[in-house]
Amino acid sequence: MKNLVVAIDGPAGAGKSTVAQLAARALNYTYIDTGAMYRAVAWKTLQQHEPVTDELIVRVVRDILVDLRYTGGKTTVSVDGRDITGEIRTPEVSGIVSQVARLAPVREKMVDLQRKMAERGAVLMDGRDIASNVLPDADVKIYLTASIEERAKRRWKELCEKGYTIELEKLQADIAARDKADSEREISPLVQAEDAVLLDTTGMSIDEVVQAILKMCR
Ligand code: DC
Repeated sequence: MKNLVVAIDGPAGAGKSTVAQLAARALNYTYIDTGAMYRAVAWKTLQQHEPVTDELIVRVVRDILVDLRYTGGKTTVSVDGRDITGEIRTPEVSGIVSQVARLAPVREKMVDLQRKMAERGAVLMDGRDIASNVLPDADVKIYLTASIEERAKRRWKELCEKGYTIELEKLQADIAARDKADSEREISPLVQAEDAVLLDTTGMSIDEVVQAILKMCR
């Protein structure tokens, strides 16, 4: 099989990173979690301990060094040489990441990095604008989604396992707000690319979704 470029987009909590990671492992491909890169910029913005404004975000992104590595089936994100993998999925980072991701200077820098990482092929990249903007020539394009209730439940379970206490209703409202912001922003909004295959994972097991993705690649 040729070294494919696989693009997976979809809203928050659709399970993209879980299934994309498993599919990448099965194919022996590199997995690129682009959401983690926007989260890294959001994380560094919060580290400034200043009110979060567009000006601050633009200042932060100007000289940030984001490094994304996929080794031994695991993604590591570092900012300016510090491993922050364990610190980017907090409610605080999720709370500002849509504001960060809608700014042109942020997207330009991240998209540039993402395209470079995909140059050699044999990659599976997930995000919001991968099929529509970052890798329009991808060999396989998938739009992964699930009902808002199911997506909220999945994220809620994930956060509970990490020791966070958050109400399911509040989390569902937060996810809906983030979907709205990501879909309505001006630059590269979340959309299903015209040539992407829709995969609604509501009621599907992780393994069923992974198998569906592998079938499309084969
Ligand atoms: O997939 P995630 O929840 O980790 O993504 C975090 C945020 O980053 C999400 O709210 C939208 C943004 N994002 C984006 O704008 N473009 C991408 N390619 C990936 C993520």
